[in-house]
Amino acid sequence: MKEIERAAEIIAGSKCVIALTGAGISVESGIPAFRGSQGLWTKYDPMEYAHISSFMRDPEKVWRMLAELYEIVLSAKPNPAHYALKELEDLGKCTAVITQNVDALHQRAGSRKVIEFHGTGETLTCLDCGRSYKVDDVDLKKIPPRCTCGGVLKPDIVFFGEPIPPDALRESFELARRADVLLVVGTSAQVYPAASIPEEAKASGAKIIEVNLEPTPLTNTITDVFCQGKAGEVLPKIVERVRGLLKT
Ligand code: APR
Repeated sequence: MKEIERAAEIIAGSKCVIALTGAGISVESGIPAFRGSQGLWTKYDPMEYAHISSFMRDPEKVWRMLAELYEIVLSAKPNPAHYALKELEDLGKCTAVITQNVDALHQRAGSRKVIEFHGTGETLTCLDCGRSYKVDDVDLKKIPPRCTCGGVLKPDIVFFGEPIPPDALRESFELARRADVLLVVGTSAQVYPAASIPEEAKASGAKIIEVNLEPTPLTNTITDVFCQGKAGEVLPKIVERVRGLLKT
C-alpha cells in the first residue's frame, strides 16, 4: 500500500511524532468501540449511562454497565497495534501517546509516555471521602462498589459533563503544537475537546497520518495520509518500514 510507504517516510524524517489513539486501537484486543454497528453506544444510550449526572442519580444502574465493561477490559491484552507504538517510541519516533482509552493497554504494551486524556479505569475514588482504590483491590461483583466509609466508588474515567484532567489537557495541546506528525489511530474524532487535537496540530504545521477502518471527519479535511485498515495490521507495517528507513 503506497500510503504505508508514505506514512513511514514522513515519520522517519520527523523529529516529534505524537500518536492520538481511540477505542478502535483496542478493538482487536476484544474491547468494543463506542460508535459504529458493534459499538457500546448502540446497546447503551450514552446520555443515560455515560453522563456524570446519570452516575450521580443512579450509580447502581451505571455500575451494571461498568461491571460488564470491566470484565472485558481486565482480561484484555495489548494487540500488535499497541506494541507497534511502543516500538516506535523505542526507535525515537513516538514522543508521546495521547489516548482517549481508559484500558491501560498502551502502558501494558510498554509505552512509557502515555497521556490519558479521558482518565483511567485502573483507579477509583470514593465520592464521599475521596479515598482512592486500585481496581484490583475492589470487589466489582458488589454493585455499586463502596468505600469502607460507605460512599459509592467512581472509576477515575472522564464521564460526559466532567472536565478533562487539567494536566492531560494542557500537555496534550502543547504536544499538538510541537508535533511534526500526528498519528491518529482508531478514533471517530467526534468527541471534543480530543477531536480538536488534530486541528491544533495541523494549524501548527504538523502532518496528519490517519489509521482507521473507515473515513472520519478528518479524512477528507485535514488528513495528509489515510491508511485504511485494521490498526493491528497497518501499524506494524508502518513501523517495520520506519525501522528499515532508519537503517539506510
Ligand atoms: N482498526 C482501526 N480503526 C478501527 C478499528 C480497527 N481494528 N475498529 C474500529 N475502528 C475505528 C472506527 O472506524 C471508528 O472510527 O475506530 C473508531 C472508534 O470510534 P469511537 O467508538 O467513536 O471511539 P473514540 O473515537 O475513541 O471515542 C471517543 O467517546 O464516548 C466516548 O469517552 C468515550 O473516549 C471515548 C470517546
